[in-house]
Amino acid sequence: MKDLPPQVRERTIAKARTLIEALPFMQEHRGKVIVIKYGGAAMDRAPLARPFAMDLSLLLHAGIHPVVVHGGGPQVSEVSAQLGLETRFVDGIRVTDAATLDVATMVLAGKLNTQVVGGLVADGVPAVGLSGVDGGLLLARRSTPDLGFVGEVVQVNTGVVRTLMDRDFVPVVASIAVDEAGQAYNVNADVVAAEIAAALGADKLVFMNDVPGVMGSGGDLLSELGVQECLDLLAADGVVEGGMIPKLESATRAIKGGVRRVHMLDGRVEHALVLELFTPEGIGTMITPDAGEGAVAE
Ligand SMILES: Nc1ncnc2c1ncn2[C@@H]1O[C@H](COP(=O)(O)OP(=O)(O)OP(=O)(O)O)[C@@H](O)[C@H]1O
Ligand SMILES: [Mg+2]
Repeated sequence: MKDLPPQVRERTIAKARTLIEALPFMQEHRGKVIVIKYGGAAMDRAPLARPFAMDLSLLLHAGIHPVVVHGGGPQVSEVSAQLGLETRFVDGIRVTDAATLDVATMVLAGKLNTQVVGGLVADGVPAVGLSGVDGGLLLARRSTPDLGFVGEVVQVNTGVVRTLMDRDFVPVVASIAVDEAGQAYNVNADVVAAEIAAALGADKLVFMNDVPGVMGSGGDLLSELGVQECLDLLAADGVVEGGMIPKLESATRAIKGGVRRVHMLDGRVEHALVLELFTPEGIGTMITPDAGEGAVAE
């Protein structure tokens, strides 16, 4: 060290300091389950696949148990269009007829799940792909007749996910569920992530999206929200739209289900996950229980 020019020496010491600063965060998260919803829009950006894998590696080495749930909305819409199928959303939920269900199953549980797992494995993350059908992970029933084969989750059987986590694998879940008769359903991936997070007693649920976080009526980033504030935003006219509707609903569902914190991060920011978990500078929107209702008080 003493032979180094002063500037280089200072920079090297600063790197060590950064590592040490991460220590309390690593201690805080050690042994915890963190569910990460990797959104379709964020996934579309190939250069970010590698930093995401690196982030997951760091989480694993810090003793965190990550579970990944991925979306794929834009990709399902693209293949539907190629096949001449019309895409329609109601309150951010895809109307899913039998043909669209086939497309969603092929794209989510086939192409994208393989792609996400392949990318992670190539970067040394021991990822294992599955859908909500495997091991009966997500038991669903039809949500409303108007939406076709859109399911609502009635039960989460965490066995298969826990078995994988116990063996240090990272489960990567595609958002297809099954009913008691074996009929598959398309479930919004945000809903799936929230249900799995609640069932696993996860400490955190992190949504990786293609926006900086939840935006208020003036387009401003809302950095912290309580559950009631989320419900107020959902009830307000024209503030929360499209895919942010199920996302915010799922966030409140997760918190009510005992998840301590929900984060909405910009998946376009390199190393967004590490920034949020291991540095004092929180990014995006953090959703917390309302005062007096927290599973864990702080
Ligand atoms: N108030 C708001 N704040 C932030 N984003 C909003 C708001 N209202 C609507 N949105 C939209 O919600 C979108 C996020 O939902 P979307 O379903 O498109 O992404 P995703 O859930 O990450 O992907 P996928 O559905 O494929 O998993 C944002 O890209 C944004 O355009
Ligand atoms: Mg979505």
